[in-house]
Amino acid sequence: SSHIRPASLTPKDMDDLLGGRRMRRNRRTDWSRRLVRENQLTVDDLIWPLFVVAGTGVREAVPSMPGVERVSVDEAVRDAEKAARLGIPTIAVFPNTDPDLRDPIGSEALNENNLVCSACRAIKQEGLNIGLMTDVALDPYTSHGHDGVMEGDAILNDETVVQLANQAVLQAHAGADIIGPSDMMDGRIAAIRQTLDENGFRDQQIMSYSAKYASAFYGPFRDAVGTNATLIGDKRTYQMDPANTDEAIREAELDIHEGADMIMVKPGMPYLDIVRRLKDTFSVPTFAYQVSGEFAMIEAAGANGWIDKDRAMLESLMAFKRAGADGILTYFAPKVAELFQRGA
Ligand code: PBG
Repeated sequence: SSHIRPASLTPKDMDDLLGGRRMRRNRRTDWSRRLVRENQLTVDDLIWPLFVVAGTGVREAVPSMPGVERVSVDEAVRDAEKAARLGIPTIAVFPNTDPDLRDPIGSEALNENNLVCSACRAIKQEGLNIGLMTDVALDPYTSHGHDGVMEGDAILNDETVVQLANQAVLQAHAGADIIGPSDMMDGRIAAIRQTLDENGFRDQQIMSYSAKYASAFYGPFRDAVGTNATLIGDKRTYQMDPANTDEAIREAELDIHEGADMIMVKPGMPYLDIVRRLKDTFSVPTFAYQVSGEFAMIEAAGANGWIDKDRAMLESLMAFKRAGADGILTYFAPKVAELFQRGA
């Protein structure tokens, strides 16, 4: 209409307007973008979670996690060798326990020949330059799929903590270097640290899942370890409310006080604010878990051609670095490491 006037900006007007401040100068060339880059993602940032299942020579697909397999112990040794070859510093082992071995108190967690302990011993024997991390929680071993001992509707805290401390010691005995309690019981870090020390495992590190949220993003993982089928109800009486951030500070503070060497936030991408807050508050090694649902979303959108999968993968991992994470547990680890090895 008649009262709208087109912009009249001469180059001189633009110079005056910008006063010499042109942000795009630094972005103009590839070398300059590299020069001013604030964060780097390297293979040293990666922890690769592996799923172990009974048998030998087994590699079975997890349908909701394209490219991810459950593997038998002998194949897990292969994957550990692959990780070492690629320079991935640490792998994390999760079991898919035979349903017949699951019971209400998760007894199989305390079997020194269970899948996780067997995998640890077999991998440790290879003498690889790699860290071995294990998950401390009862859910892959309980018939009800909860991370603790259940009585009626309740998950019993203190009874569970005793089990977890014993589970951690068995894992350490089998060769685990990093103990990763993912159960969210109160006091478990102190109990685990004390029990490890009493058993002579003073050098085993603890990476605490300090801020673990009751999240919808764990679905594919529960397929992988077979707990979607078993889980009764939800985990909201022990995992955190997604609405909270101050509570994450208190959880991390307690865990560090109780002896955690490293802390973790989980899930990852939707919780980058928590990563940043914990890193800024405590200045301790801080990790993020890019969980199964996050992995599945990127894979699914990529498979549909809706996003460029590799670029989205690398961008998502860089976002963790930008948020202050020292490292990331991610199912993309071998793929990223291969890309880097090829010089991407
Ligand atoms: C259970 C555990 C879970 C994950 C790691 N350890 C799931 C849960 O709490 O039900 C999730 C990892 C993922 O989704 O990738 N102790």
